[in-house]
Parts: sequence; structure tokens; C-alpha cells
Amino acid sequence: MEPPAVDDYLRLRKESGLSERTREQAEKGVRGAWAACHVVHVESGEIAGMGRVIGDGGWYFHVIDMAVLPHHQRKGIGDAVLTALLGHIDERAPGAYVNLLADPPGRRLYARHGFVDSAPGSIGMKRT
Ligand SMILES: CC(C)(COP(=O)(O)OP(=O)(O)OC[C@H]1O[C@@H](n2cnc3c(N)ncnc32)[C@H](O)[C@@H]1OP(=O)(O)O)[C@@H](O)C(=O)NCCC(=O)NCCS
Repeated sequence: MEPPAVDDYLRLRKESGLSERTREQAEKGVRGAWAACHVVHVESGEIAGMGRVIGDGGWYFHVIDMAVLPHHQRKGIGDAVLTALLGHIDERAPGAYVNLLADPPGRRLYARHGFVDSAPGSIGMKRT
């Protein structure tokens, strides 16, 4: 349960199709999450995937940065990352409220882990 290195974080966001971040943003943020994990491909030594959780440590948690490099996708890595993160939350904060903003590629994965649409009761909003 360790965050990826800054270079790996930037690469994973870019190559998985998430919005790119600056090095300064990554350097400030990558170790700032409540929990993070990453997966390394043993044979090549390259980063393969990651996921992080921000939260208050007590009851409120938000899953972020779920990303797997395209050539490592559909092998169960995203599932393993999410399982590890949710297990970490369940161990330390049973009964926690856990949410996320689900882009289309992750929706089936999240649904398999018990996530449901929060709308119409609550909708995600972002500052523009
Ligand atoms: C979302 C994401 C992290 C999922 O990672 P992943 O490693 O591909 O996830 P998994 O392999 O665990 O599951 C993905 C699919 O592969 C399938 N799969 C898992 N192992 C498999 C295998 N050995 N053979 C064939 N299919 C397999 C799963 O059943 C799942 O199918 P489904 O989603 O069609 O139901 C990845 O697609 C990604 O990085 N997307 C781009 C970035 C993004 O949008 N992130 C989400 C932001 S909210």
C-alpha cells in the first residue's frame, strides 16, 4: 500500500487517458492521499496500475486515480487495486461512507464492488 513514484503517477494518468497533471501537482499530491497502492509488472519492472483514496480517516472516503496502463488492462489489476483499497478502508473505518466519480471505463468494475449511482439523490458537481 504505497503510492507510485511521481514519474509513474504522471505516466499512468497520461497513458490511461486521465487528464494530465503537472509535475508540480504530482509532487505535491502523490503522497498526500489517505491510502494509495500501485502494481508493478514483475517481469518488466514497469508500473502497471494504481489507485488512491482521500479521506478523513474516520468515515468519509473518496476513491481517486484508478488507472491501469492500456496494455495491462483487462487482466484483473483494476479489480485487485480496488479490492485492496476498499479492504484497507473496511479494516480501519468499518461502516465508512465511500464514494467516487465514475468515468465510463470503470463503471462495471465499481458496480461489481457494490457502488451504485448516487443520483438523483446526489449528483457529482465540479468547479469550472
Ligand atoms: C478502469 C480501469 C482502471 C480498470 O482497470 P482493469 O485493470 O482493466 O480492470 P479489470 O481487469 O479488473 O476489469 C476490467 C474488465 O476486464 C475483465 N477481466 C479481468 N480479468 C480478465 C482476464 N484475465 N481476461 C479477460 N477479461 C478480464 C473484467 O471482468 C472487467 O470486465 P468488464 O469491466 O467489461 O465487466 C482501466 O480500464 C483504466 O485505467 N481505464 C482508463 C482510466 C479510467 O477511466 N479510470 C477510471 C476513472 S473513474
